[in-house]
Amino acid sequence: MSQQLTSTAQHYIGGEWTDGDGDRTFESVNPATGETLGEFHQGTDADVDTALAAADDAQEEWRSLSYIDRAEYLWEIYHELRDRHDELGEIVTQECGKEISEGKADVAEAWHMVEWAAGNARHPHGDVVPSEIPAKDAYMRRKPRGIVGCITPWNFPVAIPFWHMAIALVEGNTVVWKPAEQTPWCGQIIAEMFDDSGIPEGVFNMIQGFGDAGNAIVEDSRVDTVLFTGSAEVGHKIAGKVGGEPGKLAACEMGGKNGILITEEADLDVAVHSAVMSSFKTTGQRCVSSERLIVHADVYDEFKERFVELAEEVAVGDPLEEETFMGPLIEAEHREKVRKYNDLAREEDVNVLVDRTELAEGEIPEGSEEGFWVGPFVYEADPHEPLRCTHEEVFGPHVALMQYEGDVEEGIAIHNDTDYGLAGAIISEDYRQINAFRDRAEIGLAYANLPCIGAEVHLPFGGVKKSGNGYPSAREAIEAVTERTAFTLNNSKEIEMAQGLSADITTSQD
Ligand code: UN1
Repeated sequence: MSQQLTSTAQHYIGGEWTDGDGDRTFESVNPATGETLGEFHQGTDADVDTALAAADDAQEEWRSLSYIDRAEYLWEIYHELRDRHDELGEIVTQECGKEISEGKADVAEAWHMVEWAAGNARHPHGDVVPSEIPAKDAYMRRKPRGIVGCITPWNFPVAIPFWHMAIALVEGNTVVWKPAEQTPWCGQIIAEMFDDSGIPEGVFNMIQGFGDAGNAIVEDSRVDTVLFTGSAEVGHKIAGKVGGEPGKLAACEMGGKNGILITEEADLDVAVHSAVMSSFKTTGQRCVSSERLIVHADVYDEFKERFVELAEEVAVGDPLEEETFMGPLIEAEHREKVRKYNDLAREEDVNVLVDRTELAEGEIPEGSEEGFWVGPFVYEADPHEPLRCTHEEVFGPHVALMQYEGDVEEGIAIHNDTDYGLAGAIISEDYRQINAFRDRAEIGLAYANLPCIGAEVHLPFGGVKKSGNGYPSAREAIEAVTERTAFTLNNSKEIEMAQGLSADITTSQD
């Protein structure tokens, strides 16, 4: 446990650590053990108001710096993330329950995004645009939007905050951030890093707390862009609210009911490996995790046998142990949700193949009886039935096998039969099938002969349909945090217009 957490951790507002306005506190809990990791002050509307005032005050000075000078603060953080890789990876694992390679990958993904955003400071930011008029120089230039409100999830408690903030800051915005209430310790460490970097006061602000604090950020008219990654339920509310406000923008990345299409041309070693990774890594708690495996009848029986065998055996246990494949779920409430969906599947009369909802005796690590454990739940379902269990996102190791016959288009149609559209994969040795999936699958992230998880930071990460509204991370996120100016300069003393428009001023004397 870090030094700071021996006392109640504070908010970071206007360059100061503060208890804030409220007197409530909350705790961070290790989901594997139920042990308390630290206590945190709970932010209020008044704290958000103070943070936004600080962000507003800092705006002018921050946007006046060069991209390169702004990026210097991020480079400090980049080095700290790298230097503290192992330590921070363990903290991620303790606070959000992901097994240790995933805890460390979260930290690596964070520094990759910082590297991308800070490195991009030295790349061109705009376009030189031709004009019909030789004496005119035209450009597209970018300006920061102003204040960016960031609301981030618990499943990538270090990486996703940097998806949002590294880019927003380098582009010249100031930031007010609310980390997920399940992972405030990671939030605290990130705020300490910004403090250590010497970033000017008010440029970066963090409020710990719950949905009410997030809502205060979303609703405040000083916020120009809201960046949100999290549940579809909350994301759609934010998009709805912000959409009605002129000049304000929300970029929301939400979940999915992601599928893997395994055709009759699949290499089944690749298929089984990809499916197990996609369905059970992070205990199914990635927004890109797969809960739908759509398998051609010709290979169905063999795939089923092999997938079921592994689902029965994947190692659930202490996430700090390297041999563990799946850690616990994030919290009791979420375990309840996953259990309910497993029950719902039974009520919807699917054929259950693996049911590790309650782990067997001996599977729960000693001393971890209070953890939020669950194992894989796998069933067969009819892809043509409008079942809730095969269409609603569970966010857990809850997986449907769905058999199809016919050509790849039939499989793609089943794949697309969800309201979501984030990630998906095809497993096939036939390039025509792969290309059909690439072109017709309704998703933002498509993979072939790979799991549908593990995107690198410089890919546009985002979905279609209910999964997002088109401002993915990295390069495309710049669109959400900047405004474009079309700037045209006349190098001549004469005014000459495009489109053949006359520039002659005629008077009644003419
Ligand atoms: C998420 O699923 O919530 O592509 C984010 C991945 C990671 C990010 C996942 N780079 O699996």
